[in-house]
Amino acid sequence: MEERLRVLREAASRGFEVLEGGGSALDAVVEAVVVMEDSGLLNAGVGSALTFDGVAELDAGVMSGDGLLGAVAAVRRVKNPVVLARRVAELTDHVLLVGEGAERLAEALGLLVPEGVLVTPEKLRRLEELKARWRRGEDFGWLTRLRRLVEEYPGLFGTVGAAAVDRAGGVAAATSTGGYWLKMRGRVGDTPIPGAGFYAAKGVGACSATGIGEAIIRFMLCRRVCDLIALGLDAQSAADEAVRRMSEELGRGLAGVAAVDAAGRVGFAFNTEVMLVGYARRGKVEAKLLGAPQSL
Ligand code: GLY
Repeated sequence: MEERLRVLREAASRGFEVLEGGGSALDAVVEAVVVMEDSGLLNAGVGSALTFDGVAELDAGVMSGDGLLGAVAAVRRVKNPVVLARRVAELTDHVLLVGEGAERLAEALGLLVPEGVLVTPEKLRRLEELKARWRRGEDFGWLTRLRRLVEEYPGLFGTVGAAAVDRAGGVAAATSTGGYWLKMRGRVGDTPIPGAGFYAAKGVGACSATGIGEAIIRFMLCRRVCDLIALGLDAQSAADEAVRRMSEELGRGLAGVAAVDAAGRVGFAFNTEVMLVGYARRGKVEAKLLGAPQSL
């Protein structure tokens, strides 16, 4: 746990350094997410989960209040999909590139890594353990089994993301994930879906989500958080209210958000048991486990 908190502190510091150096909110969220993707300790980038049949398919999305919007889905051999998502926005006329097409762009940009970077023998062993547990499940519902596994096996999810506001009042959000362990090949969650796994609105705020993508897409969680900020709520109240409404509509144990409003106030809310968060503000950097530590 301490290791993961260290990564979050490092990511928040890195993002803050970028802002201090005059970088934009977009630069800051991408840099912060790259730190988390490279850590190998979180479910994104190098640490990404594997599909049921043992491949790593990664998703990421990035958006700024200025209208930059890019995402990639189900990409293999890309260590930093958040960088590729940004390049989709900057270099193409598209918003979302998937699979082989996105990998071709990654190759042209020198963003491909050897397969062994994302699919390691240790991960393949973990996959076999999880499959054995999954097979023993008594319930036939895919998500119900996954939820039970999450209870037994913390760290099964763990999408990473960041939201930031810069000195000029610019806002941005970025989110990156390996999806979840045992997902079907080709399955895409909320992370590369604007409004679901990430969202930013000029003069309003930005939001990044983590949790079960199927539920987050149904609820359009990040868009809802930003809409509530636009109605006058601060980031914390908007995050609380959106997650409360999501719990009411779809049940608990599904998601968490990190949000920031254009005034620079941060908000974290979740209806899972725990959520790891980090933030940096005026030189103060903190990372914590919110929720019930005894469940880890
Ligand atoms: N929130 C990550 C996913 O469901 O893929």
